[in-house]
Amino acid sequence: MNQRIALITGASSGIGAATAVLLAKKGIHVILTARRVDRLQELQNEIQNFSGNATVYQIDLTNEQERIKLYEWLQQQNLVPDILINNAGLAWYGFFHEMPWKIARDIIDLNITAPAHLMRLFLPSMIQKHYGRIINIGSIAGKLPEQGIAIYASSKSYLDSITTSTHRELRNTGVCVSILRAGPVKTEFFDTARALENGGSIPAERLAISPNRVANKIWSLIIIPRRVAYVPSYLIISALLETLFSWAIDLLGPLLLRKRK
Ligand SMILES: NC(=O)c1ccc[n+]([C@@H]2O[C@H](COP(=O)([O-])OP(=O)(O)OC[C@H]3O[C@@H](n4cnc5c(N)ncnc54)[C@H](OP(=O)(O)O)[C@@H]3O)[C@@H](O)[C@H]2O)c1
Repeated sequence: MNQRIALITGASSGIGAATAVLLAKKGIHVILTARRVDRLQELQNEIQNFSGNATVYQIDLTNEQERIKLYEWLQQQNLVPDILINNAGLAWYGFFHEMPWKIARDIIDLNITAPAHLMRLFLPSMIQKHYGRIINIGSIAGKLPEQGIAIYASSKSYLDSITTSTHRELRNTGVCVSILRAGPVKTEFFDTARALENGGSIPAERLAISPNRVANKIWSLIIIPRRVAYVPSYLIISALLETLFSWAIDLLGPLLLRKRK
């Protein structure tokens, strides 16, 4: 893994930061991207302190021109990634009909358009090298479109779908596209979602696991490439819940989402 380069989006906190540290410890050169460049520099120092390789690149991923500039810059620097972790993501919790459209648009740009565009930019060089790993950070919400997360859940469904199609297209190329369907994780994600929410609690938060567990699962997907993985693993049952129990979720789910007073 010493020659490998990994581009990690959303490396300034949570799952992205934990993954960056783990991959750097495995000898991978990590490209740390996000908007909060001070956080990225702190992480770069932490990685360099254990003699890891890290490069910082500040980007607002919702901006198409910035994504193209990142691609061109990495080429100029001879840092074309072998591994792409499409991790940056945003959620909002509450009734869709009350959701400010700007937030919905930002989520669509960040959770859907940016990962698809980055895949399109970096896949050709991976195919040419006969090696590549793309790990899209999905969610069990992609298969469980609960009340309160209409735009978020549908954005993760999109990631599920594009992963499956491209995974199948890339058979026998040495390139694997994977989706990691994560359950709740203890990160700033819930704070960001709650800052904008409708006043109700976010029920899933109580079950949250540490971002290090997610990073370990990402590592396992790099080493043993496969189309889909769950973290925690038992959440494999989540894909069946909607199929088998959608009638019960239709009845009971809305009770979890309080109406704005
Ligand atoms: N936490 C959970 O329970 C959970 C569960 C399932 C799936 N996930 C998924 O895991 C991924 C990572 O989330 P997390 O839990 O680690 O949350 P987090 O700690 O809030 O991290 C989100 C990351 O996205 C970056 N980001 C946000 N807007 C951006 C933008 N416009 N341009 C570039 N980067 C941007 C943030 O960096 P800056 O603000 O510095 O730009 C931050 O590094 C997301 O895709 C999320 O959907 C999370």
